[in-house]
Amino acid sequence: MTKKILVYGQQVVQGKIPISGAKNAALPLLAASILSEDGLTLNNVPPLSDIRTMLVLLGTLGIEHSVSNLNSFSMSLNCKTDAISNFEAPYDIVKQMRASILVLGPLLARFGQCKVSLPGGCAIGVRPIDLHLKGLQALGATIELKDGYVYAQAKRGLKGTEFTFPIVTVTGTENLLMAAALADGETVLKNAAREPEIKDLASCLIKMGAKISGHGTSEIRIKGVSRLHYTDHTVLLDRIEAGTYAIAAGITNGQVDLIGHSIKDLLPTFIKKMEEIGLMFEDINGGLRVTSSGKLNGTKITTEPFPGFPTDLQAQTMSLLCVASGKSLINETIWENRFMHVAELIRMGASISVTGARATIIGKHQLVGAPVMATDLRASSSLILAGLVAKGNTIVDRVYHLDRGYCAMEEKFGNCGVKIERI
Ligand code: EPZ
Repeated sequence: MTKKILVYGQQVVQGKIPISGAKNAALPLLAASILSEDGLTLNNVPPLSDIRTMLVLLGTLGIEHSVSNLNSFSMSLNCKTDAISNFEAPYDIVKQMRASILVLGPLLARFGQCKVSLPGGCAIGVRPIDLHLKGLQALGATIELKDGYVYAQAKRGLKGTEFTFPIVTVTGTENLLMAAALADGETVLKNAAREPEIKDLASCLIKMGAKISGHGTSEIRIKGVSRLHYTDHTVLLDRIEAGTYAIAAGITNGQVDLIGHSIKDLLPTFIKKMEEIGLMFEDINGGLRVTSSGKLNGTKITTEPFPGFPTDLQAQTMSLLCVASGKSLINETIWENRFMHVAELIRMGASISVTGARATIIGKHQLVGAPVMATDLRASSSLILAGLVAKGNTIVDRVYHLDRGYCAMEEKFGNCGVKIERI
């Protein structure tokens, strides 16, 4: 697989971009297949490397899957879950992708035992799972940490309880939601994450027979059932991919039609902020049209849990603010180390300074193409966005980060008259 992408400078995005299924919805949904012996079919799954990693992990547990309707933008997966015989998620898989931790709750709920490697950190932060473990203990599991693994047991099954998250955690909420679905009695999750991906997971679990209410709010109630059954489910659209391409239209002074329904509801605060900066949004049939006003203004951004401004669009927005007029501030409140794209943008002539969790950006009229390095998934897309508007060409290295979360970006941009190519 080639490691670099060449981005030609000073291009304008003009056209339609179909938005794929959400990586951060598909990953928990794949883990949810563990909860039923009848299997699960997922449609509109994005063909991404993180999805492939999750499928390898499910394979080691004994879950076989078949692929259909495969194209560069989506695929359908059918998971066969009646022969799960191994309850261990090994380090060499979990270290590649933290979301592997999502098999913890389902394995515990259905089989009463599992051994899952501690995920370890990643580029953007330590990424602890202490709240996942505290929540599972509240559900009656015994948890032991030994030689880098979580040993979890619930021999007599999990028991419904009331659990309040001290901080909002997306996968922590997902792990407990899945575990509680098969617990004995009612569980109330307070200060739960409200991300659309949680709602999507809950709606799939309900189709499998789970009794859930309040999903999408900060208080989710789950009445445990004895078993879940087969269903098929279509994965929610990827709001982070949609936001990334909206910024592409803004930064290149172009226009893009994001094809997919109700994208607006998935990005309330982001869209408000983009309008402040100078992007215009218009509902069109089957999608959302994003047009640049031609004048970009600086603003103040603070990342927050949904419905606040998504941290996963922070790096991309920083690229946009690098070429907006005036001063901008970005407060990154979710991850302690999510400014690694700053050094790379500075290599392209951006004027950014960072103190702690705050970045100050002074808008420049022009960025200059340069060889840069992707450090994490969303940083890689922010560098490509900067390269599109820069004078001269940009080469983004370590582009495997991009392939974790964006499918067929060259093709999607190519259909909008924008040339980026792997070299
Ligand atoms: C999910 O990660 C997403 N990943 C991330 O997207 C996203 O950045 C993040 O939510 C925030 O929206 C998936 O959904 C697969 P958290 P997650 O638990 O669940 C702290 C991307 O680019 N915390 O909501 O791991 C944690 O340190 C990825 O697609 C604890 O302290 O994030 C962080 O400060 C990057 N203890 C905060 O909570 C815990 O047990 C939010 O983390 C769990 C989390």
